[in-house]
Amino acid sequence: MRLDLAVIQYESDHVVDLAGAVPFASGDNRLCFRHPGYADRCIKVLRNGRTKQLHAASPLYKKIMRETYFDDNRREYSAYQQPAVARSEGTYARHLARCYGWTKTSLGDGLVTDLITDADNQPAQTFETYLLQHGLDAMAQDAVAEFSCFLRSSLILTKNLMPHNLVLAPNDLGHRLVLIDGLGLSTLLPLAKYSRYFAQRHVEKRVQWFNFRLEWEVGDRTVSWRDTEANFRFVGVPSHAAGER
Ligand SMILES: Nc1ncnc2c1ncn2[C@@H]1O[C@H](COP(=O)(O)OP(=O)(O)OP(=O)(O)O)[C@@H](O)[C@H]1O
Ligand SMILES: [Mg+2]
Repeated sequence: MRLDLAVIQYESDHVVDLAGAVPFASGDNRLCFRHPGYADRCIKVLRNGRTKQLHAASPLYKKIMRETYFDDNRREYSAYQQPAVARSEGTYARHLARCYGWTKTSLGDGLVTDLITDADNQPAQTFETYLLQHGLDAMAQDAVAEFSCFLRSSLILTKNLMPHNLVLAPNDLGHRLVLIDGLGLSTLLPLAKYSRYFAQRHVEKRVQWFNFRLEWEVGDRTVSWRDTEANFRFVGVPSHAAGER
């Protein structure tokens, strides 16, 4: 089955050489490098063979998708094309790493985004790491409130918000949360893409789920996340908020 995942257009024919470069971080799917040509940008490349693995491990109904469907870089690039991101042009970069498109690299297609850094110009720490060290202190609560406000007003669509997919960047007053992975929708029926009502519900659910997850992150964790998540209840969009938008 064909899914509309953007055709790759490179900024130039230049191939960025990443042989011998050490990724500053990596996740399950991608390796992250500081861009050798632009120190304030990050290049993400897929881990070798990862799309094949995911395709092979997927349930039957997803097996009919092409391998590109399991390519996290392509899916993320496609998610950056959502209208809410374009509508927030000029402001979204405060809470979402700006995307610069594709570059060729010696390790395959690279997706280029802002590299979010700390006061020492090093890659910023993830929110997960911060919570482990400091818990959900006043600074973290303020950052969560501001980030939630941003999502509710922009209606930018995200998957479930995982603390390791957000980093904390210094700010004039404290810190701001920046989403560096997890943009888009994980559902095959993307109602939220086409309807404001469903977009509001989608965003509100992600915000409530995030707060629920944070309680677990800083709790005693004797109950597994899987068992805890089974108790998550979405309480709907507050009526005053639905009216305001
Ligand atoms: N733009 C960025 N600025 C700063 N740090 C980043 C950036 N992008 C990624 N990172 C760091 O690299 C790690 C892995 O990146 P990313 O989440 O994009 O990889 P992934 O393989 O898609 O992750 P997952 O395991 O969640 O699927 C992040 O958790 C974060 O620590
Ligand atoms: Mg990640």
